[in-house]
Amino acid sequence: MPVDLSNGKPLAWDSAKLDADTKAMLDNLQPNILQAHVRESMSLLLVHFGDGPDGRRFLRSLVPLMKSARKHLEEVREFNRSKKTGTPYVGVGISKIGYLKLGDSTTKFTDNAFKSGMKRRKDTLSDPAVGAWEKHYQEEIHAIVLIGDATPEPVAATRERVLALLPKTAKIVGEEKGEGLRDAQGRGIEHFGYVDGRSQPLFLADQVAAESGTNWNPFFPLSHVLVPDPLAPHPSRHFGSYLVLRKLEQNVRAFREAEEALADALGLKGDDRPLAGAMLVGRFRNGTPLRLHGKPSSEGHPVQNDFSYRDDPGSKCPVSAHIRKANPRDSRDGGLERTLGVMMARRGQTYGRRSDRPWDDAPAATRPTGGVGLLFMAFNSSLQNQFEFTQQSWADNADFPAQGTGHDPVIGQGKRDVKVRYPKAWGSTKLSGPQHQVPQTVTMKGGEYFFMPSLAYLKSL
Ligand code: HEM
Repeated sequence: MPVDLSNGKPLAWDSAKLDADTKAMLDNLQPNILQAHVRESMSLLLVHFGDGPDGRRFLRSLVPLMKSARKHLEEVREFNRSKKTGTPYVGVGISKIGYLKLGDSTTKFTDNAFKSGMKRRKDTLSDPAVGAWEKHYQEEIHAIVLIGDATPEPVAATRERVLALLPKTAKIVGEEKGEGLRDAQGRGIEHFGYVDGRSQPLFLADQVAAESGTNWNPFFPLSHVLVPDPLAPHPSRHFGSYLVLRKLEQNVRAFREAEEALADALGLKGDDRPLAGAMLVGRFRNGTPLRLHGKPSSEGHPVQNDFSYRDDPGSKCPVSAHIRKANPRDSRDGGLERTLGVMMARRGQTYGRRSDRPWDDAPAATRPTGGVGLLFMAFNSSLQNQFEFTQQSWADNADFPAQGTGHDPVIGQGKRDVKVRYPKAWGSTKLSGPQHQVPQTVTMKGGEYFFMPSLAYLKSL
């Protein structure tokens, strides 16, 4: 039976009743797409091939270091049962020019963003000129090898094994190191100090069952992340996913100053001051959703995700907040993010070391102005309709969801010349006077689009 990507039910990946095509899909799909792989420590190798046949041999030689989505899910289950750790994650993505270099035709790929490459999409995304990107992103990148695990040692060992396989005709044009950042309670955070990675589209039955709610349905069909791998031996059973990689540098000091300035402008005092940052992000630093609470909930509670904005015109969570622009959740089952198929699976990791504590209230002046940020990564079935749509039509669009909303305060790019009004207090329909938008504190330093092919394709090289 052909794999039903639009199935209205989460995939019971471990069911004995699974049909042969779906089994083949799971045995040939790369991990980290349907469910996040542990990647506290990461190495991203950006590869350039000098010779196509050598490039093909190299990619095929990586297969023994890789595992399937099914193997990954079994490892996760085993870990939950016995705490036995799994094997490192090795993922492979190929860019459009990479496929051409390998000697493959790309006519069967349908995604225009992928087929253009990120450099040529810079105007669509209001990205900086390519000449301002970090040097290695200015080069032709043919493939990416992602290596990740819970600790640095297995990543270093696997990285050595990958490098040992690299032919002389190929070179590593650049490398990114991802390092998970955690707050005092051990929750994953990003560099502005906020809990990140909490809200995700879920595809698998066990994941959905663990997070059932009444306001927000976290289930999304496989069609959000999977497409037939057009170059695999059997595209109807061999699937892949488009990966967006963007290096996003965070000026933490400037963001903290913007939070302080907004708190002053709104007249917030004492323990109400964190409301300013929450209005920009949509959650307090500890992940408490502004839609549900006007103050951070006490510690020790799981980070909530069961909410929609149906009954909140913006008096609790401003419509301009990052998480509201990036996922409007305007109804439980028929919202824009669903009807337009926008939700992507975010799998990023923070980069850059710092000696301060990102989650505390130390003065803005003690915060880094650069050198730290997010290696934003997400899996899509359509880069154009998901990542690019979110960035361009929502984050960068000052009139989404309503006229005068302003840019996404965290990731919005483009001239921020709209004045924004915020609720005077949490839940109040009285609005502040018009405020300048907060300055842009996230800078895109480079990136690329890749396709993560099926293992069947890699074996066939
Ligand atoms: C959620 C920060 C880049 C899309 C979040 C959350 C934080 C955050 C703190 C809340 C945690 C959660 O709900 O999971 C950041 C920072 C970024 C960044 C600091 C850059 C440095 C991006 C980009 C996109 C994006 C580039 C897409 C174009 C989303 C989405 C959510 C989210 C879709 C989930 C919203 C929801 O479902 O409620 N981000 N983000 N983010 N972000 Fe970002």
